[in-house]
Amino acid sequence: MIKTRFTELFGVEHPVAQGGMQWVGRAELVAAVANAGGLGFITALTQPTPEDLYKEIRRTREMTDRPFGVNLTILPAIKPPPYAEYRAAIIESGVKAVETAGYKPEEHINDFKKHGVKVIHKCTAVRHAVSAQRMGADAISIDGFECAGHPGEDDIPGLVLIPAAAEKITVPMIASGGFADGRGLAAALALGADGINMGTRFMATKEAPIHEKIKEQLVARDERATQLIFRTMRNTARVAKNAVSDEVVAKEKEGAKFEDIRHLVAGARGKMVYETGDPDYGIWTAGMVQGLIRDIPTCQELISRIVAEAEEIIRGRLAQLVQ
Ligand SMILES: Cc1cc2nc3c(=O)[nH]c(=O)nc-3n(C[C@H](O)[C@H](O)[C@H](O)COP(=O)(O)O)c2cc1C
Repeated sequence: MIKTRFTELFGVEHPVAQGGMQWVGRAELVAAVANAGGLGFITALTQPTPEDLYKEIRRTREMTDRPFGVNLTILPAIKPPPYAEYRAAIIESGVKAVETAGYKPEEHINDFKKHGVKVIHKCTAVRHAVSAQRMGADAISIDGFECAGHPGEDDIPGLVLIPAAAEKITVPMIASGGFADGRGLAAALALGADGINMGTRFMATKEAPIHEKIKEQLVARDERATQLIFRTMRNTARVAKNAVSDEVVAKEKEGAKFEDIRHLVAGARGKMVYETGDPDYGIWTAGMVQGLIRDIPTCQELISRIVAEAEEIIRGRLAQLVQ
């Protein structure tokens, strides 16, 4: 057992979280993570309406009686989703943990806190972590440049970002981006974090609700198999490198505007990747940590293995180095 401020705060057995994942963070995966003693987050915006989110939370409860949370990703949008209604669905369902991510979380943090929901804010810069802490976030998830999804524009990898954040953050903090195994968990703890958050690694588990062929891709591909899109628009996203991401990056180099690539990056096409198993159907998300994924275990096997390996490293190899 590894007990940290994170496990105490969220009442979970292991210091391992499964962050929000568009199209992937559904009841099956979140319940499996919860049953394995980790903290899983349903991705709110994967559900087309707040009413669907209610149902997804109910469906998760049918599969687990352990704690789980919901991710609320705050995107800058011309026509934003009905955030207040998604928030209400979370609060009224009695969910006690939320992972916020993205822009200006204050209004959301205030409302969740008022209703006794613990908020872990995920961000990619020390200054954003500090301001989320000031806004009252109960915990921070600090996401290094290695991560899948939005790494921000500063390009600071975890090896520097995590200890730099740990110097400033007093609430429990977990490290995110590039984690897949017990070596990573031991390293995160050494760098000052209270646990780890994983995205890509959880896609390659038996319970992840995506096509088997995509899981096999994650095992087959290496750490170079990602690409940064939307760099020219200062909205960088790390995605799985494929024919479509190559085209997007080539078009961006030629000066393309969002309108010119909209048809390539459409969310509906990305969703089809996970449904059809065709890795070139659209843009899909995965991190550099693909280079550390060797199998497709259950969430129970994965989390138990990570914790056992970290314990062995800390008690065994590291302890023996100290004379
Ligand atoms: C398929 C996929 C979809 C993701 N979608 C979201 C999302 O909607 N909101 C969010 O906050 N993070 C999202 N993320 C980021 C993860 O929550 C997590 O921060 C990230 O995957 C950590 O890096 P790792 O993949 O190296 O573990 C996504 C990640 C993946 C792999």
